Amino acid sequence: MASKLSIAALAATVPLVHSHFTFIRLALNDEWQAPTRYIRNKTSPFEDVNHVGRISSTRYNVYPTYWDDYDESVRCGRDHMAHAADTEVLTLSAGDTITVAHTRYDPTAYTDDQWTNCPDDRGSCDPARADRVMDFNHRGPIITHLSQVPDGEDVRTYDGAGDWVKIHRIGFDLSGVAAAPIHWLPYNDDQLPARYIFQIPPQIPAGQYLLRFDLVNTGTHGVYANNETWTDPAQLYATCAQIQVESAASGALPAGIGIPEAMSPDSPGMTTSTDMYQLLTVDEDYVYPGGLLWDGENMVVDKPDV
Ligand SMILES: *[C@@H]1O[C@H](CO)[C@@H](O)[C@H](O)[C@H]1NC(C)=O
Ligand SMILES: *[C@@H]1O[C@H](CO)[C@@H](O)[C@H](O)[C@H]1NC(C)=O
Repeated sequence: MASKLSIAALAATVPLVHSHFTFIRLALNDEWQAPTRYIRNKTSPFEDVNHVGRISSTRYNVYPTYWDDYDESVRCGRDHMAHAADTEVLTLSAGDTITVAHTRYDPTAYTDDQWTNCPDDRGSCDPARADRVMDFNHRGPIITHLSQVPDGEDVRTYDGAGDWVKIHRIGFDLSGVAAAPIHWLPYNDDQLPARYIFQIPPQIPAGQYLLRFDLVNTGTHGVYANNETWTDPAQLYATCAQIQVESAASGALPAGIGIPEAMSPDSPGMTTSTDMYQLLTVDEDYVYPGGLLWDGENMVVDKPDV
């Protein structure tokens, strides 16, 4: 806890460029597209809701958002609707694969060598590191959702107020050290993250969608010595791409979650015990956040496979 709070306190006074991250680039069927292409931008700096004790209300591009920030910030990133009309729409086919890359740099600090010849065919890398790995500096699962654009609307004007269906998740395994076995695959102890790659379900109907990428830096709660309880809510890192899906599938998408409603500290998977937060033990009833996982056929409870 102490480390999360002290990072927040530091960020309140210094507009750190390298402190957090944002999803920023995608590959279609292993072909990297230009950084930012097809992805709604965020306005930065931006005045979001001021929560006492959390990160500053003045948020920069790579800063997190919280469930009780503006709805718009939680859905697809701060002020994303101001950028929707200027964002291209990626046409793809149901069954195609998408790979996603993130950056810890502010747009004002982008350089070409963050995007080219990255090790392991990643879409981003960090020239400041000898191994050039672009790491995640926070733990937690990566979750991916789709929201179908309502009839009669265009993806360039859709705000994401409808249902969101989880189609992919990257979680943890128990390969950490004996005393702290939980090993988050995206975080990977600040080393090369798990590859963020998934399939657009072959079963999804044709149409336009928002495709949402997020890493949930899971919240935690505990009890003070005086028996008062505290909750430190999850940090969220939402970004959306605009896509047009070609498909022969005739079924409908299942019902999903609402955002931000399903991202509150009381929602499944959004808050863990301090023991789980500190990687010691998995909470007995733990499920990954973001609702049920659609496997293309059924909505399944998204529990760790450990
Ligand atoms: C996105 O917004 C940032 C400011 O937050 C700006 O520096 C950057 O150029 C924008 N990117 C695009 C692709 O418009
Ligand atoms: C906290 O709760 C425990 C268990 O109910 C109790 O024994 C203890 O006296 C309480 N402490 C305070 C400071 O109220």
